[in-house]
Amino acid sequence: MKLFTDLITLLLLLWDRVVVAGYGGEDQPRREFFYVGGEYANLTLGNTTAQFMINQIYVEKLTPPIVTQEHPIVFIHGSGQTATNFLETPDGRPGWASFFLSHGYVVYLSDQPARGRSPWHPSIGTMITLSTSDIEKAFTATSSHGLWPQSRLHTQWPGTGTVGDPIFDALYASQVQLQADELLSEAQNAKAYTALLDKIGPAYIITHSQSGPYGWRVGDLRSHLVKSIVALEPGGPPFIGRLPYIGPRRTWGITYHEITYEPSAGPNATHLETVTIPAKDEDRIECIMQVEPAKKLRNLAQVPVLVITGEASYHAPYDYCTVEYLRQAGVEVEYADLGQEGIHGNGHMLFMEKNNLVIAERVLRWLGSVHR
Ligand SMILES: *[C@@H]1O[C@H](CO)[C@@H](O)[C@H](O)[C@H]1NC(C)=O
Ligand SMILES: *[C@@H]1O[C@H](CO)[C@@H](O)[C@H](O)[C@H]1NC(C)=O
Ligand SMILES: *[C@@H]1O[C@H](CO)[C@@H](O)[C@H](O)[C@H]1NC(C)=O
Repeated sequence: MKLFTDLITLLLLLWDRVVVAGYGGEDQPRREFFYVGGEYANLTLGNTTAQFMINQIYVEKLTPPIVTQEHPIVFIHGSGQTATNFLETPDGRPGWASFFLSHGYVVYLSDQPARGRSPWHPSIGTMITLSTSDIEKAFTATSSHGLWPQSRLHTQWPGTGTVGDPIFDALYASQVQLQADELLSEAQNAKAYTALLDKIGPAYIITHSQSGPYGWRVGDLRSHLVKSIVALEPGGPPFIGRLPYIGPRRTWGITYHEITYEPSAGPNATHLETVTIPAKDEDRIECIMQVEPAKKLRNLAQVPVLVITGEASYHAPYDYCTVEYLRQAGVEVEYADLGQEGIHGNGHMLFMEKNNLVIAERVLRWLGSVHR
């Protein structure tokens, strides 16, 4: 009898574990969260100086019921966005997180420092916010503004992409403030995501837009932990701040802050010699490259890279410059210029557009082909 009740107790305990671990059931992903990368600092706010924690990021870990992939995927969102970008689309379809979970990947979703659930201390930098007009022109209703040649090809945004359309309104409601100082932002992100990799170990990184350079920095600082980088329309082009909104010059080519070149690029990259090469065609811009023999991105060159560009995006005129710059500097890059591959009509938010899972399949195939 004792044995029997013990057995029942054990079964109940195990059942409890399955239900608790399962986050709503054993066939559902398990959800955990933590903060990483924070440090204490004495800061002055108003009349008082006191100790606060800064730079920590909110990280959500989603584990599928059966993990079949060797390494997890770390998503880093772009400007004005948060990790919700990858959860679901603004019209309620499954996002990339669900897609990669269903293919057996552990997925880490996070909010950049001073963004979303990652706290901002009001004494550090200044916050800005993208307006409805910024979002319509750059992301959702690009064809009616025609700010770059390829914008007329944009067909994949669900809905009209303008204020009052429920899908636009859902996207716009998710837009948050961001650090105005891009140099500060890059420094904070490189530090926070390096701390994340130190905590979780080897991972694949997927960056978008503003976070593209953050991925290059983490790849440089932790090339042994970054197994590959998928850069969705990475911030660029080399040296020229950020188009179509001109930002500070990218001193180190693909980044604002130091990245390792061999031979050395010198203090403030003053030994990087550049040359401007003509545009590939009339719909694209000229590129700034290194003078040959080019210095190599010694650490980043150990990391396989996939760059993806939407056919109609504001990145269409210049992402090829980033690809060619990386290749010249010794980085192994596969370039998925989606229009050239028969995937038509995507804008900058391609992972939430109508064909988002077609593009996710493209990423899945590449991740499966890279062994390192
Ligand atoms: C902040 O100041 C207090 C009091 O001087 C000190 O104990 C603490 O170590 C300081 N914290 C940091 C992060 O410097
Ligand atoms: C801060 O200092 C100013 C000037 O000394 C004073 O007028 C104000 O009351 C102080 N505020 C607080 C919250 O102590
Ligand atoms: C790098 O540039 C910054 C800003 O122009 C300057 O303050 C700093 O002294 C420079 N550092 C070196 C090592 O040249």
